Amino acid sequence: MAAYSPADPESVFTYGAPQLKFGTGAADEIGYDLSLTGAHRVLVVTDPGVAATGTPQRVADQMGRFGIEAQVFDEVHVEPTDESLERAVAWARDNGPWDAIVAVGGGSSIDTAKAVNLLTTNPGELMDYINKPVGGGRDPEQPLHPLVAVPTTTGTGSESTTICVLDVLSLKVKTGISSARLRPTMAVVDLSLTLSQPAGVTAASGMDILCHALESYTARGYTTFERKRPEQRVPYCGANPISDMWSEKAMSLLADSFRTAVRDGSDVEARGQMALAATFAGMGFGNAGVHIPHANAYPIAGRVKDFHPKDYPPDEAMVPHGMSVALTAPEAFRFTFDASPERHLRAASLLDPRATVTDDPAEFLPSVLTALMRDIGIPNGIGAVGFGEDDVDDLVEGTMKQQRLLATAPKDVTEHDVAGIFRRSLALW
Ligand SMILES: NC(=O)c1ccc[n+]([C@@H]2O[C@H](COP(=O)([O-])OP(=O)(O)OC[C@H]3O[C@@H](n4cnc5c(N)ncnc54)[C@H](O)[C@@H]3O)[C@@H](O)[C@H]2O)c1
Ligand SMILES: [Zn+2]
Repeated sequence: MAAYSPADPESVFTYGAPQLKFGTGAADEIGYDLSLTGAHRVLVVTDPGVAATGTPQRVADQMGRFGIEAQVFDEVHVEPTDESLERAVAWARDNGPWDAIVAVGGGSSIDTAKAVNLLTTNPGELMDYINKPVGGGRDPEQPLHPLVAVPTTTGTGSESTTICVLDVLSLKVKTGISSARLRPTMAVVDLSLTLSQPAGVTAASGMDILCHALESYTARGYTTFERKRPEQRVPYCGANPISDMWSEKAMSLLADSFRTAVRDGSDVEARGQMALAATFAGMGFGNAGVHIPHANAYPIAGRVKDFHPKDYPPDEAMVPHGMSVALTAPEAFRFTFDASPERHLRAASLLDPRATVTDDPAEFLPSVLTALMRDIGIPNGIGAVGFGEDDVDDLVEGTMKQQRLLATAPKDVTEHDVAGIFRRSLALW
């Protein structure tokens, strides 16, 4: 294992978060909250599935009581692409101007709202702002509109983060836009909106929570980086005492609620714990960063073949984000074990307090993860979503492009290492 030994170690970490309103009924207060900003015209951004629950229109109608005219855009693409974001931005530009934006939905709706917010307040086009080397990596110069993010899944934590994830279709690559200005002004987490999530979405998005917590908890510590100048600071600064606290708590909440929420979506207590876990993990990883499972997830999702997951829109092949992250997680954590054995063991105990350490301690966390994945119906490895041995080189190439994420891994990761992780993830049990 390559230990990191910087010549001039970092001594500073950072923490950022939006204003937060949490609890049943919190979404009924958005009109009041936005009236305080002086907003008169508000755009509500959502996808067709969430629109069908009636929640986005209810949120829009409620703003009328505060003299705010709200319009719903319900054409978000589930797992946004450059084309879908451009369509949303064009619609918002044609129908604007807007004073504020409200995203109602999962990560897909929240990320689309972030892109719309950016490109209705700043000059240029989408590609200008996408992370290098795919896009221009331009920094937004103008302040954005207030953005209220209202998650209806228990997963991404996008309501707290500074990134917008998208698929660049022509390059078959998932990438993002990353800027502190993208962070929503306010996160409104109302568990009553999450009750209608189908079991398949609860399982996949819940694995996203779990991996956010686990990856930020095992990420390279912030002091193992070279010292940065103020203008070099990035939102992801490595594991630190504050992100550790959020991640640990998120894992304990998942231990109590994850299986129950998938089995019985009407269990309000489990749904509430999942919503808290998603928020906590978002606050953790949104500052520390994620690493190998997320880097692997991008090519798994971007190079999907013909997999149609249960409970997602049936018209397109996809590997949902949380599922694509989970599929290589057991092997990734077997690989990173020696970088911080105590953290891997503690995480396994938090995720399953009843489990006991196996003869080989490196197996403890992978075994807790695969037992959970089997129980909640996650496919058995990348083979089960259509990839074979012949695809490994292609997947490795996609992972190695995610250097921004691999930089947070707790040890150096070579192409050979990643190939081994993919190969051993063809079937997990
Ligand atoms: N910006 C970030 O920090 C960040 C972090 C992780 C993931 N992401 C991105 O977020 C996206 C995934 O988001 P997600 O997992 O939250 O799911 P999602 O937004 O893609 O939604 C998944 C499906 O669930 C449906 N759905 C959502 N809420 C529902 C509800 N309450 N009732 C009924 N149906 C509901 C949607 O209509 C959709 O069909 C991916 O594009 C991923 O890359 C972003
Ligand atoms: Zn994620």
